Amino acid sequence: MNIRMLMGLSCAVGVSAMGIWLSTTPAGFAQEKREAKTWVEFTADGKAKQPVGYRKWVFLGSPVTPNDMNDGEAPFPEFHNTYMDPDSFAHVEKTGEYRDGTVLVKELVAVGSKEESSGKGYFQGDFSGLEISVKDSKRFPKEPGHWAYFSFGHKYPLKAEATMNGAASCNSCHDKNATKFVFSDLYPVLKDSLQKAKK
Ligand code: HEC
Repeated sequence: MNIRMLMGLSCAVGVSAMGIWLSTTPAGFAQEKREAKTWVEFTADGKAKQPVGYRKWVFLGSPVTPNDMNDGEAPFPEFHNTYMDPDSFAHVEKTGEYRDGTVLVKELVAVGSKEESSGKGYFQGDFSGLEISVKDSKRFPKEPGHWAYFSFGHKYPLKAEATMNGAASCNSCHDKNATKFVFSDLYPVLKDSLQKAKK
């Protein structure tokens, strides 16, 4: 190997080493991570892991189906505190659509007291259950609307991981009765953003 070849070789190594260094700079890495943000994680066999931090997402509202108005046991007991992940809410505000990766959380809360100094009513008590819906055309190509539904249980301790419910037990009711699978008319925060995005 003559000196020219040697110089060429060391130069190539230098360039490719620099290439690697450049593509892994902290800024580039952070950017990549941000774009890939998903708000719920899945196990290798497709179970949803309990989402974390969702009480800081966008709060959509809290429908209430009290047990005492539903023969003592509502199908989804009592308050349903409902949240959407912030990236998907921003997307709704911009486009009026639910993006791939949208996560909705419905956290069930028992009715606590029915009378406070403000008057008679239904007041929130303790957390009692957790369900989510996730839209993802790549992960759920066969689910109607690409929405999949998971329940972590209706009493504590909740399951850490949940298997996807069959379409007949969740998806079909949402498909039939909601608008684009989400009961947006019941969440003024979401309804308003959808209407504004359409203007
Ligand atoms: C009989 C109809 C029906 C079935 C079955 C049903 N839901 Fe819903 N779901 C609703 C209604 C109505 C709302 C909004 C009002 C409320 O929370 O009471 C809702 C709201 C939700 C929300 C909040 C976001 C949204 O789409 O509005 C999630 C998450 C959810 N349901 C998950 C589930 C899961 C998981 C199952 C199956 C275990 C399920 N649902 C089965 C009717 C249904």
